Amino acid sequence: MQHLGLGPTEILPQFLVPVLASFRQEFGEPAVLVRSPGRVNLIGEHTDYNQGFVLPAAVDRGIAMATSPRSDHRYVLHSLDLDRRLEGDLRKLAPHTERWPNYLLGVVDQLQKAGKSIGGFDLVYGGDLPMGAGMSSSAALECGLAFALNELYGLGLDRLSLAKLSQAAEHSFVGVKCGIMDQMASLMSRKDHVMMLDCQDLSCRFVPFHSPVKIFVCDTQVERALAGSGYNQRRSQCEAGVALLQKHAPEVHSLRDVSLELLDAHRAELDPVVYRRCLYVVEENLRVIAACDALEREELAVLGGLVNQSHQGLSKAYEVSCPELDVLAEAAAALPGVLGARMMGAGFGGCTINLVEAGAEDAFVQGMAPAFAKIGKPPKIHSCAPHCGTERL
Ligand code: GLA
Repeated sequence: MQHLGLGPTEILPQFLVPVLASFRQEFGEPAVLVRSPGRVNLIGEHTDYNQGFVLPAAVDRGIAMATSPRSDHRYVLHSLDLDRRLEGDLRKLAPHTERWPNYLLGVVDQLQKAGKSIGGFDLVYGGDLPMGAGMSSSAALECGLAFALNELYGLGLDRLSLAKLSQAAEHSFVGVKCGIMDQMASLMSRKDHVMMLDCQDLSCRFVPFHSPVKIFVCDTQVERALAGSGYNQRRSQCEAGVALLQKHAPEVHSLRDVSLELLDAHRAELDPVVYRRCLYVVEENLRVIAACDALEREELAVLGGLVNQSHQGLSKAYEVSCPELDVLAEAAAALPGVLGARMMGAGFGGCTINLVEAGAEDAFVQGMAPAFAKIGKPPKIHSCAPHCGTERL
């Protein structure tokens, strides 16, 4: 930690130091400094775009952004972690051939489409969030910039609007038809709580998350190529299931409205793959509700069991895991002191989330070494704690 003298008592996180130093060197003193977190998700995967339930939390890892307005219509983007820089004209926005600027340009595009008047800006960012590892570095970027520009240009948008336009940015400029979990978690979370989010009406219930459980994330270091992968395909398969079920039950608008009984009654008419996808989503929604109850009652073994079941569903029925995720999740679940473990996020690579009893942390880290050896990767394990959403520093 280093005292940078921005506020009378402010101690800034270490990851902010290079961002601030680089911004000062290039552009002078920043007008706005923002911290935008990544997230974990305890349970409820691939349920958000099916109008279901999720149980995420922003974490104490994220992206720091420094920005100032410019007097012209240009943007300057500088990613410290990627060591990339891009300049352009705000009046000629289009998706870039490189992926990284699109999370940012997409947000500016959405603000413009919402009729918000944005002038030019300089931006430097960097952080301590593993990129593309399933901890929502994309949403941290989108929400961070949306939040920063809202502050910089006094746009008066609330956090919910910022979350929605960040999601729309990912759809239009990145090409991933993501749900809204990551953006809501990044913007809305509260310290030491997880957020039970109903993706149908976007209501949030905050559940205290106490110290008997520690969260560890294990990174397979298998890169996820979300847009080119099966993410959008899973979404279409769920929509195909809804279209068929709707013919019999007009009240069904999403898998959220589908019961196990209804699904079973029409199993024969559904393509077997579509049936498996739908069954997973309907069951996962039930698991989220049960997990949230278990957490509130501090029935930690029950919570862990549900997390393990979630992994099995994601791996076998939804088929978004990969061999490395399976090895890490199954090895973790078998270790003493581990309540539950599963793949986290979109899948196809990235991280597992592991709920570990307090006191078993060291044994967990040591116990995972053989599993990392088995997948041929050096151990990469991060501990994280539920933290507040995007904030101005
Ligand atoms: C990605 C998406 C989210 C969600 C998860 C899977 O993180 O951005 O909207 O669908 O995958 O649960």
